[in-house]
Amino acid sequence: MAIYTVSKTAPVNIATLKYWGKRDKNLNLPTNSSISVTLAQDDLRTLTSVATSETFSQDQLWLNGKLESLESERTQQCLQDLRNLRSKLEAGDSSLPPMSKWNLHIVSENNFPTAAGLASSAAGFAALVAAIAKLYELPESASEISKIARKGSGSACRSLFGGYVAWEMGSEADGSDSKAVEVASQSHWPDMKAAILVVSAAKKDTPSTSGMQHTVATSDLFQERIRNVVPKRFEEMKQAIQSRDFASFAELTMRDSNSFHATCLDSYPPIFYMNDTSRQIVKLCHQINAFYKETIVAYTFDAGPNAVLYYLEQNETKLMAFIYQAFQRNSGWDSKFSAKDLAAFEEHFTFNVAPEMAFDLDLDMHKNVSRVIFTQVGPAPQDTAECLIDTTTGNPK
Ligand code: PMV
Repeated sequence: MAIYTVSKTAPVNIATLKYWGKRDKNLNLPTNSSISVTLAQDDLRTLTSVATSETFSQDQLWLNGKLESLESERTQQCLQDLRNLRSKLEAGDSSLPPMSKWNLHIVSENNFPTAAGLASSAAGFAALVAAIAKLYELPESASEISKIARKGSGSACRSLFGGYVAWEMGSEADGSDSKAVEVASQSHWPDMKAAILVVSAAKKDTPSTSGMQHTVATSDLFQERIRNVVPKRFEEMKQAIQSRDFASFAELTMRDSNSFHATCLDSYPPIFYMNDTSRQIVKLCHQINAFYKETIVAYTFDAGPNAVLYYLEQNETKLMAFIYQAFQRNSGWDSKFSAKDLAAFEEHFTFNVAPEMAFDLDLDMHKNVSRVIFTQVGPAPQDTAECLIDTTTGNPK
């Protein structure tokens, strides 16, 4: 009996205009539109292999080597939507194998530690949905497929595209117009880089879903954010990306991170995602921009203390002069930079920065950072020859 298999990789995306607030919890419909940058998959990606066969006795999921429950409402909705689309195809073409009625084996792995608190659910649901859509040979566009990923995890819809992506909130009650669209391709602005400072968290943060619900229910500032702040910023940020205006893009990104965390603080009781180290990094970025009298770096923080810094490749040495000085004791540098690059960062600091620096660099900051990840803007989900499923048994390799 035939076993059909497909594998896909999907990227992480980090929002520059944050999604925070649901108007419908079951369908993951947001209270505002959002924008993100898709990150390269060599550094951060989920690889998902899916298989289907008439012989499989139940749907099964293996995540990072462990058998996991497939009972979550979210995952079930995604599988059901994909099966419905497949079933329509089968109804119009009797030569197609009736996969919509068969069970699925899903095997999924991240190439980064889940514990790092990086948006693994976005890459995870995007890879799951992209892999099954390919297995089922669905003709729907990436935007259509993004609506299915959205039901798994809101931000996952943006991981169906590469480059610069908007999630349009839509207004329909059934979510039919709440989907991801491309703002600009990766090649439109290819020199966008990201440095992720993985900040150690003392305890687990409030999960995003309950955090959002709490903010929507209790924060007054939140109303101002969704009514007046985000709609204007959404247009301005798209414009900044389309015209490759880094200074505007960076200011909007930093302001929006601050606005999102302000609504968390304005929730009652408050939610704290950023910690002292996160705030030190915010301050450092403003000091760096002031030092160069030019905006060369933007920070942004999600529902946790990790900092993501966006910058352009041409400013790498200027920025890294500071970042290497502060975080060189953390792991992650050697895998991305040559000894020559690191020497250039050191030299730039010694000769150009130190003599004129008007503030003290806190050399203890690195103690609360576990590692540094250097990456850049990247493409949409990709096909891959790597397969996590044994094609003769249909089970994980
Ligand atoms: O999609 P979720 O439920 O993981 O929520 C994501 C929320 C933020 O990361 C804080 C913002 C965003 O737009 O990604």
